[in-house]
Amino acid sequence: MIRFLLGDKEIVLEEINPNISLLEYLREKIFLTGTKEGCASGDCGACTVVTSKLDVDNTSLQYESINACIVPLGSLHGRQIITVEHLQHHESLHNCQRAMAVNHGSQCGFCTPGFVMSLFSYLKNNEIPEREKILEALGGNLCRCTGYKSIIAAAFSMYEDYIGDQFDTSEGTTIKKLAQIKAECTSAFLSENNQQYLMPRDIRELCKLLLTHPEARLVAGGTDLYLEITQGLKKIETLIDILHVPQMNSIYENNGYIVIGAAVSYSAAKATLVDLQPHLTELIERFGSMQIRNRGTLGGNIANASPIADMPPVLIALNANITLMKMDAERTIPLEDFYTGYKKTQLMPQEFIKDIQIPLNTKHLSLRAYKVSKRIDDDISSLCLAISIVREEGLIKEAHIAYGGMAEVPKRAIICEKSMLGKAWSESTIEDAMVCISQDFSPISDFRASAGYRLSVAKNLLKRYFLEENGLDNEKFRVTHYAS
Ligand SMILES: Cc1cc2nc3c(=O)[nH]c(=O)nc-3n(C[C@H](O)[C@H](O)[C@H](O)COP(=O)(O)OP(=O)(O)OC[C@H]3O[C@@H](n4cnc5c(N)ncnc54)[C@H](O)[C@@H]3O)c2cc1C
Ligand code: FES
Ligand code: FES
Repeated sequence: MIRFLLGDKEIVLEEINPNISLLEYLREKIFLTGTKEGCASGDCGACTVVTSKLDVDNTSLQYESINACIVPLGSLHGRQIITVEHLQHHESLHNCQRAMAVNHGSQCGFCTPGFVMSLFSYLKNNEIPEREKILEALGGNLCRCTGYKSIIAAAFSMYEDYIGDQFDTSEGTTIKKLAQIKAECTSAFLSENNQQYLMPRDIRELCKLLLTHPEARLVAGGTDLYLEITQGLKKIETLIDILHVPQMNSIYENNGYIVIGAAVSYSAAKATLVDLQPHLTELIERFGSMQIRNRGTLGGNIANASPIADMPPVLIALNANITLMKMDAERTIPLEDFYTGYKKTQLMPQEFIKDIQIPLNTKHLSLRAYKVSKRIDDDISSLCLAISIVREEGLIKEAHIAYGGMAEVPKRAIICEKSMLGKAWSESTIEDAMVCISQDFSPISDFRASAGYRLSVAKNLLKRYFLEENGLDNEKFRVTHYAS
């Protein structure tokens, strides 16, 4: 069985389609239709709801906005779900609802519940309204009619006269109820007919389940996998949720490496990654949307083996390793050796990614990352470059250059890197290196970009890096979010 709180009411479920998304459950099983369905693929934010979960010490709640359309219902075990229906208190609208109304933030209203829930999540996580952070929080919500100006105004005005809400008043009770579920529920699962959703509580149990269910698919955030269900209309018989496995959910230092568990979300890993490489901030903030970053994991991004995934080029440029595990056997390999072909990896049956290890001795690299996509927010890359060139006394000592979107796998630009070593840090060295990109890669044309576009942008990004490193970082050329 699974147990969760819907608002303040405890729900216990056991026999229900284990592939069901949170959105289908809300709209079709319990008729909470305030949460809307737009795209069913995580792209529009109409289905945004907020979940709260216990922190590690069981002393406070962490609020997160998520896309209900691609979240497996089973993964909400042990959490509180808050939908737009729960915001009104007695006869009064919540501050974020009132602010939307007062600021004329809604016209047809289809996107409004999703925006309201993203605003609610922002309010719960931030003491004061700040424009850039508000834009980040709303980056996963689309509005086709109102225009964003009045919605952003609502984000500021929801703070006026805000002195807390019903969720603050009941926080102690919610913590107690969630802690009780955690303590009492030793095994969580859903099943119906021959389908099941299993949630191992540690890594041993995960290994054993993989042995007894060799056909099972792992699910972490579900932000890739659930598209197979909502868009591909697939039925997956056995899903094994890895989000409750503590060994895959922590970040720590070990033997000169930062180790990030494969099931750590982008939102949870952001501070560590940015501390290691400050220039990564922009790339991480442009990874999907807030809702996607709250669910999507590093392990899922790597295992999905998409040639246009954003994090593999960064991790390859940082010489990261990954640990693969199968029963008692573990092996650690460089990430760049993991990919063997288009959407193919070294993973053997029943093997999984346990963690990602980034060497601490790459801290000096000052890596830059450039994502080229059609939209700034919530878009997948056409191509992506992660680069660092280390100089000593005017000569190039190390070159770390990896691209996504330029081959069937994320890949290091080996010929380009070699061409620079020992050469002077000069425009002519960079121009020679730009020529080598054509030897390293033969990109394809697809609906995101043509081969020619990819090649010339890949080369030009090298030049951009050179200019930025030489202090010609033109802020005015940088694309920002919405015009004010
Ligand atoms: C709207 C939207 C925007 C997106 N934007 C971006 C973007 O900007 N950049 C980008 O790179 N990606 C983006 N993605 C893709 C996706 O969010 C990422 O790839 C994410 O990191 C996947 O992680 P997950 O935990 O959700 O994986 P899941 O969907 O849970 O799993 C993905 C695959 O990996 C397998 N898997 C998961 N964990 C493991 C593990 N530990 N070991 C072995 N196999 C495992 C699963 O079985 C599945 O096949 C976007 C997706 C959506 C829907
Ligand atoms: S319905 Fe569009 S993001 Fe969920
Ligand atoms: S008000 Fe119509 S889509 Fe936003």
